[in-house]
Amino acid sequence: MDKFIIKGGRRLTGEVTISGAKNAAVAILPAVILSDEPCIIENVPSISDVNISLRILEEMGAVVESPANNVYRIDPTHIDKYCVPYETARKMRASYYFLGALLGKFNKARVSMPGGCPLGDRPIDQHLKAFSALGAEYTLSQGMIDLKADSLKGSQIFFDVVSVGATMNALLASVKASGLTVIENAAKEPHIVDLANFLNSMGANIMGAGTDVIKVRGVEHLHGANYAVIPDQIEAGTFMIAAAATQGDVIIKNIIPKHLESITKKLEKIGVNIELYDDSLRVWTEGPLVKANVKTTPHPGFPTDMQPQIAALLTLAEGTSIVTEGVWEQRFRYVDELRRMGADITVNGKVALIEGTGKLMGAPVKACDLRAGAALIIAGLAAQGITEIEDIYHIERGYDCMEGKLKELGADIEKVSIPDKLDDKNDKKAVV
Ligand code: UD1
Repeated sequence: MDKFIIKGGRRLTGEVTISGAKNAAVAILPAVILSDEPCIIENVPSISDVNISLRILEEMGAVVESPANNVYRIDPTHIDKYCVPYETARKMRASYYFLGALLGKFNKARVSMPGGCPLGDRPIDQHLKAFSALGAEYTLSQGMIDLKADSLKGSQIFFDVVSVGATMNALLASVKASGLTVIENAAKEPHIVDLANFLNSMGANIMGAGTDVIKVRGVEHLHGANYAVIPDQIEAGTFMIAAAATQGDVIIKNIIPKHLESITKKLEKIGVNIELYDDSLRVWTEGPLVKANVKTTPHPGFPTDMQPQIAALLTLAEGTSIVTEGVWEQRFRYVDELRRMGADITVNGKVALIEGTGKLMGAPVKACDLRAGAALIIAGLAAQGITEIEDIYHIERGYDCMEGKLKELGADIEKVSIPDKLDDKNDKKAVV
């Protein structure tokens, strides 16, 4: 079992470079299946979810090489399996992108239902609705989803809820379908645009990604492409908050400021100073932080994946803050852990009331999911004394070299390994 030991109270200062976006990479890697030629994908983050995606591709017959750090050459031309078994799929929620990619390429797919989920109900009805609209039939049995179509035909897809995953899967399954597909009530996150840009760079014809109506005119073939994944907005936001929580002064490099608008605006309200440049920003804090109300909503609203981190920051602010979760049912499971560190938070359904105490105390805590883990790191960096965070495999699913980057900024953080027979960081429950 690995854990982080953080000695809190050190200001973060210096520069940090943001890695490629997890949520874009885990869709772009399966999308390579759709190509008739090898693709080169750059700026791929070194995280365990990416390793799992690459392993799935290899298990299906793709040839994966890494000519340089964070660069992968993937040759999908030898893929001869259309199945992602339970053992692999359960490790990563995003394994559902193999459904759309395999269906789009081979008109068939067999993927295990994604694994355990700590954020409440995680239905995939909207994904299935999109596949059906394109002409696929599905069966669910023994935990496997089977998709089959004689051919895929462009269609009208109207989503009942705004879903990132379903929008991505609709794109993957429709790029090669005959005729026009219109996806309405589509998600607008930057990673949707990134997937669409990648597919277009392979010869797809997708218009409107980033708006709530996306039009896809099917093409017969997709060719190889060389593409760089966008920077991770959530990693950038997490470092912004870590800097703010420690009264630090940090330059955050390799970002797209537009993707960070909702985070930037909210942090400014809390009293954090931010200066934006072309592809970097400076974030620093002088003086007290003040309360704020935060409601998470789909893009361009405040991202749910930043909710635990900003809640950790608000425990340090003066006054009472209200945080409302608008996407996931159970995203406050980390609150008990923050309470162990002295936070005063009351949760009622989707609303958390945070009485800013201005300080936190180190304590032994457990990461219950990826972003909860990030919030505990932030709390530990700001707290007095020592914080030990267990179950950091959650954090390593989505943050590239978190501990190394924090050390560079002056944090006192160590990763320690404690031998544990059951430990296999890639063999745990799937989460977002
Ligand atoms: C993605 C992100 C995750 C982020 C989430 C919301 C990846 C790999 N994960 O997850 O980090 O927290 O977007 O920004 O990109 N829903 C349905 N039916 C469906 C699908 C979703 O009702 O078929 C509901 C969900 O229960 C949830 C909401 O729609 O309440 C949004 O979920 P969705 O956008 O699909 O999240 P993911 O794509 O799984």
